Amino acid sequence: MAKTITVRLVGKEVKRADFFAVPCFERTPPDTSNLPPRVARAARSAAVRRGFTGRPGQTSHTRGAAPDAPTVVLFGMGKARLYGRSGLHKYLNRAVAEAARGGFRTPVVRLPDHEASYGTDSAESAVRRLALSRYRFDEFRKPGRHPVGFRQVRIAVAAEAEEAFRAVSTRAQITAEGVATTRDLANTPPNEAYPEAMAERAVQIAKARGIQATIMGPKEMERKGMGGILAVGRGSRKGPRMVTLEWGDGKERISLVGKGVTFDTGGISIKPSPAMDEMKFDKSGACTVMGIASAAAALDLPYRFRAYLPFAENMPDGDAYRPGDIVRCYNDKTVEILNTDAEGRMLLADALALAFEDGADCIIDYATLTGACVVALGSSGAGLFSFDDGLAAQLLAAAEGAGENLWRLPLWREFREEMKGAHADLRNTGSRWGGASTAAAFLSYFVGRRGWAHLDIAGPAYVGRGDKGTFGATGYGVALTIAWLHNRAL
Ligand code: BES
Ligand code: MN
Ligand code: ZN
Repeated sequence: MAKTITVRLVGKEVKRADFFAVPCFERTPPDTSNLPPRVARAARSAAVRRGFTGRPGQTSHTRGAAPDAPTVVLFGMGKARLYGRSGLHKYLNRAVAEAARGGFRTPVVRLPDHEASYGTDSAESAVRRLALSRYRFDEFRKPGRHPVGFRQVRIAVAAEAEEAFRAVSTRAQITAEGVATTRDLANTPPNEAYPEAMAERAVQIAKARGIQATIMGPKEMERKGMGGILAVGRGSRKGPRMVTLEWGDGKERISLVGKGVTFDTGGISIKPSPAMDEMKFDKSGACTVMGIASAAAALDLPYRFRAYLPFAENMPDGDAYRPGDIVRCYNDKTVEILNTDAEGRMLLADALALAFEDGADCIIDYATLTGACVVALGSSGAGLFSFDDGLAAQLLAAAEGAGENLWRLPLWREFREEMKGAHADLRNTGSRWGGASTAAAFLSYFVGRRGWAHLDIAGPAYVGRGDKGTFGATGYGVALTIAWLHNRAL
């Protein structure tokens, strides 16, 4: 996977480095232990240069007199007591951007001596973010426009922190590759990422990791009675697919399910035009699961995994499903369609019922399911829904460690009541209120009460054109899930 850079730990003996980033908190000397003496000296002299106080955003450059002397750039870190994980991430991005801008080829980044850099969780997220710091989605551009000078970044830390970094580096690097895989898949435009194409990509990724993969087409879904996914897929010339993946050894059976709507126009209940292009990201849940699968298999995490990836395109058409239709899902529950834009839950209904039937100990689903979840939580974090307090606590802790925002939302009985149909068992939309919870409550009819969690990732899965940050898929959910699986296996 060419999208990540390799991160390696170095000590004092670092050879052939043309660039050093050194952090410096306000009113303190720069963090130079474990760096070559001449680099430490250069950093200390840069720190006392007039005008440099260590304020966030400040930099101070120096270069030694010797012809082979590396460039040393001091980065202001602000007040040490205000520094945290986000300060670390900002610093890493600044440091790598500076090295790239200067055309350096062998950069070393010294991490700040602060507890917010040095636990195993912080170490993991630092390595992962660095590995992803040069990610870009440029497959559809003229080649050669954005040369990247280096494929590797070396990091230096205080001696006492080296062990934590050694312990996490493989996992962080592989997680980063999983995140890049997810981002590439989710960023792919809908004309190229139609259901069949996504299924083929899933098989490719599976092959590369020794994962067993099968693709189900519309005929087989018909035979099996997967009326939910078939209903959504009817409006598109590009027929739906269901991919199942299987890999790994272990006692516990973990099943992952991801919403794979390759484009969501809303169908007959069509969406307004502004920002409709962003509905190419409506396959993010499935892409997240593919990234997780790729990383979990590479790390040989000790579980019996299955993944279920329903892919369909939600389009308006003469043969599209309509409001008023009654659809029979895989577990034989019938659903009155009230809004064809509530399509994700129809795909997930079949996929979750299949996962449940296959007898998983634990089912986690990922879906860009509701705008209501974004209204509730904003776009930086996902909503977590589960009846299982133990599982919810584990996922929340893993998310916290991985630096991904996750917040639990309720699955009250009232929400489940609201989803009962008038002419069928269920209806596919609730009232105006609590849309993220009614959607989750709908899903709960297709799984058991224990061992299931639903992540509504509509907010954090991508950065919209109008939002702060770089437009595109984020790969949200891969890191927290790998962290969760890793912790659970300890
Ligand atoms: N894919 C959307 C949800 C979504 C909205 C994702 C915004 C990302 C950003 C989903 O299929 C949808 O349309 N949900 C409806 C549900 C409603 C019809 C009950 C929504 O949120 O409006
Ligand atoms: Mn929709
Ligand atoms: Zn959707």
